[in-house]
This record gives sequence, structure tokens and C-alpha cells, in this order.
Amino acid sequence: MEILDLKSLLVSEYSVCSVAKFQGFLSPVPAAKLQRHLSRMFEVKTTAGASKADIYRELAAQLGGLLTGERNGLANAANTAALLFQGLGDANWAGFYFLRDGELVLGPFQGKVACVRLQLGRGVCGTAAQQRKTIVVPDVEKFPGHVACDHASRSEIVVPLIHSGKLIGVLDVDSPKLARFDQSDASGLEELAGIFLAHSDLRQLVD
Ligand code: SME
Repeated sequence: MEILDLKSLLVSEYSVCSVAKFQGFLSPVPAAKLQRHLSRMFEVKTTAGASKADIYRELAAQLGGLLTGERNGLANAANTAALLFQGLGDANWAGFYFLRDGELVLGPFQGKVACVRLQLGRGVCGTAAQQRKTIVVPDVEKFPGHVACDHASRSEIVVPLIHSGKLIGVLDVDSPKLARFDQSDASGLEELAGIFLAHSDLRQLVD
């Protein structure tokens, strides 16, 4: 599959946002060409047989491109969740919880509807947030206090979001496969979380 430069596509004449900004410029683009580019725009590269390191390198490049030029935290969280859900493989849930009034409150995600509020110190998300460290759970049934949102989930990884020393929330990914996540995923997702934080203004999402 062709690797796309999402940044250039998102700010190009093919961007939906650009339709409003550059209507005059967009009009000469043939409809078929526009449709082709729009359908390619959100393709996420998933290479069969690629190593986890390769997959995370590719995802980091794509996420950087996707978020560059946009500071809205809600929009960036939504696109980050979508990219991970599509690009990681074997994920049945990927998304965010943000810290509000001492609780983790559901943010943008992809997957089945999920629990809205999680307590700090409980479940995988609450534990990762409280301990401020990434937690890899090979078998969710063996994690004390695991909060089951989608009963298909068998394993999980949660990365705390820390910005300027402040806990912002967590990035959570679930898988229907046992032991889907390991230390490579922890490093890779921590890097992706860092890219999301560096590109995003989160003032509307956290206290
Ligand atoms: N399993 C998580 C709850 C969130 S869902 O997986 C989306 C937990 O134990 O905290």
C-alpha cells in the first residue's frame, strides 16, 4: 500500500476543511480525482508481516503528519484514536479518558460504547493513571478490578498522559487476543501519546 503524506493531503486542495477555505481553488479539481484522493486520505498503512517497531515508526510518522497544523485537542484525540484503531491491528477499542474532577471521563474513541467514568486507582485505566506508568495486561480476567466495557476484550494496554508533570488522562487500547501487547507496544504507544500531547491544546478536555 502506498504511504501517504497525510499532512500534505490534509492541507491540500483535497482536504474537506479546505473545501470551505479554498472553494475557488477546489472547483477546478475533477470530481473523480477528488474522490480518489478523499478515499485514499484516511488509508492507514498496515503492512502484513511488519515488525512492531516498523508499525510504530510508520504510525508515528502518520500521526505527526495528521496532527501537524491542528491544535484542537478534541479533534486530535479523535483522529489519534481512529488511526490507532485502524493501524494497530487486533484492536477492538482504542481511545482516551481525560481527568476531570478527579475522575477519568470518556473521551474520543473507536470501538463499542464504553464506561463513561472511571475512578483513579481502580481498573486498568485508573491504576495506570494513579501510578503514572504504562500497564500491559496480557489477560484482563487476571487483572484485579478490571472494568469490562466490551466483553470481547482479552488483553489491554493503558498509557498515562502526562504533560508538564500534570496527569491529563490515559490512552487505552483493548484487544480480543490474549497477550496482544508487550513492551514494544508500551514504548510505541508512549511515543504516540507524546506526539498527541505535543500537538494538542487540551484545555477544554481537562480541569
Ligand atoms: N478496561 C478498562 C476500562 C475502559 S475500557 O476498556 C474501554 C479498565 O479496566 O480500566
